[in-house]
Formats: sequence, structure tokens, C-alpha cells
Amino acid sequence: MSSLPLSSSTSPALALRAEDIVKRFGAVTALDGVSLSLRQGEILGILGDNGAGKSTLIKILTGFHQQTSGKLFLGDDETLLRSVDHARALGIECVYQDLALANSLSIYHNMFLNREIVRPGPFRLLNHKAMRARAAECLEEIGVHVPSVDLPVEQLSGGQRQAIAVARAVNSNAKILLLDEPLAAMGAREAGLIIDLILRLKEKGGLSIIMIMHNYAQTLDIADRVMLMQRGRVTYERESVSTSVAELMDIVRREYRAMRGQTS
Ligand SMILES: Nc1ncnc2c1ncn2[C@@H]1O[C@H](COP(=O)(O)OP(=O)(O)OP(=O)(O)O)[C@@H](O)[C@H]1O
Ligand SMILES: [Mg+2]
Repeated sequence: MSSLPLSSSTSPALALRAEDIVKRFGAVTALDGVSLSLRQGEILGILGDNGAGKSTLIKILTGFHQQTSGKLFLGDDETLLRSVDHARALGIECVYQDLALANSLSIYHNMFLNREIVRPGPFRLLNHKAMRARAAECLEEIGVHVPSVDLPVEQLSGGQRQAIAVARAVNSNAKILLLDEPLAAMGAREAGLIIDLILRLKEKGGLSIIMIMHNYAQTLDIADRVMLMQRGRVTYERESVSTSVAELMDIVRREYRAMRGQTS
């Protein structure tokens, strides 16, 4: 057996690593040297104030923006993500908060949007039967229940719609799933649906997830590890089992007081 290189540790393999990422928009520094790692099969929760740089980070990881400086690694390979399509081809999928579902189209159409199954032959006719069957199978597999995959997406609840968006991302064989506030503006029942779905996906294995979150308690429930971003930097990072809502709130409160110029 060959010996391991010195740099390798005993921790699980990394799905993704970002090193000292800086992102500037003109005079605005949105990310000021962010480093993170995502282990295979792990759920990482990112918390932080408005404007902290969370969405910018996700947009870099999904190829939508390119970093001003800093490095990204997928597995062991340094990678410059040129576009969302490029990231997708490498197995990185993102579910944005505004979802990007075509509301008037059916569930199964949405699940195969831009990667439709077509019949063999010169006319590239859509294979509706195959798409229906695959969509139903995929939703069944991850435990998302809808009356029929023929329903237009506009007839679903916000939570169900979010679930379809997640299912679509997973259906594309994503290895890394990025979720920007998937539970925002959702009631407890709908949020519960998405939380269950994410935990089921984790259980199935093979998927690493980064979620931007607002609610500290929900984050600690779902995520293996939690990261706090403040003004373009990562200011705190812990395994979820080693921190608490009280501790997270305390850090944010201290920051808020410092910014208001109070002593404590
Ligand atoms: N395309 C852009 N052009 C210019 N500035 C931008 C752009 N995108 C983000 N910013 C700026 O970068 C900073 C970080 O924004 P970002 O959207 O990443 O924050 P966020 O942590 O996701 O906040 P929120 O919780 O409100 O969604 C903000 O100051 C924002 O104004
Ligand atoms: Mg945001």
C-alpha cells in the first residue's frame, strides 16, 4: 500500500474548499477573505446579517459570480467556475430563493426544464411519458408527495414548490447542493417539509449541502456545522453539537453593540 501524503488528514474527504475568497463590486467589498470547507455528505449552515456576503459567496460557489481573488477546490482539484452551466456540469446545483420555476408549467416539465428527455429520431419530440414517470419516481424516492406530476407548479404551496426545486436539483445528480434561504417566508409546516426532505437527502448519502439560513434553532437542527458571516468575513464556526442558539445570539448581539459604539 502506498503511504499517504503528509498533507492528508484523517478527516473525511472534502467535497469543496474555498480559500481566502475576496469579492469586490466596485468600491464594495462583499467578501473579504472567506475560507470554508465542506466535507462529503455534510450539511453546512451559514448564518449572518443582511449584507454579510452570504448570497455573494453562494453565487461564487455556483459559478454565477467569479471571485476577485482566492481559490476554489472541488475535491483535490483547483477549479475556476466559469459559469452556472460549468458549475452544474461539475455537479454543483443551486436552489435560489426566487426558485426559477416556470409556474405555468407542470411539475414534471419543471423537473426536466432545459434537460428534457426526447424521443430518438430527427424531430427531437419530447418524451412526456418518460419524463412523467421519472419525475414521479424521483419525488417518490425523496418522499415529496404531490397529487399528480401533471399539476402546474402555480397550484402548489410555497413549500411544495421549494421541494420541487430541490428535487430538480437532486434529479440532476448534483454532488453539491447550495440553498439560499430555502425556508424564508415559510410557515412551520412548509419549513418542516423542506427540513425533512433535506435530512432524507442527507441520509441517502452522496450529497453535500450548504444552506444559508435565518433561524438559528432550525440551523442547529439541520446542519452538522454552522458558520457565521459578518461584514464579508467568517467570524465563527463550530460543529452544531458544540454550540447553541444562545451562544450564536450572543455573538451577534456583541457585534451589534460594538457597531453602535456601546461598551457592552
Ligand atoms: N451585484 C452586486 N453589485 C454590487 N454590490 C453587490 C452585488 N451583490 C451584492 N452586493 C453587495 O455585497 C454585499 C453583500 O451582499 P449579499 O447579497 O451577499 O449579502 P447577504 O449576506 O446575502 O444579505 P441578505 O441576508 O440580505 O440576503 C452587500 O453590501 C451588497 O450590497
Ligand atoms: Mg442573501
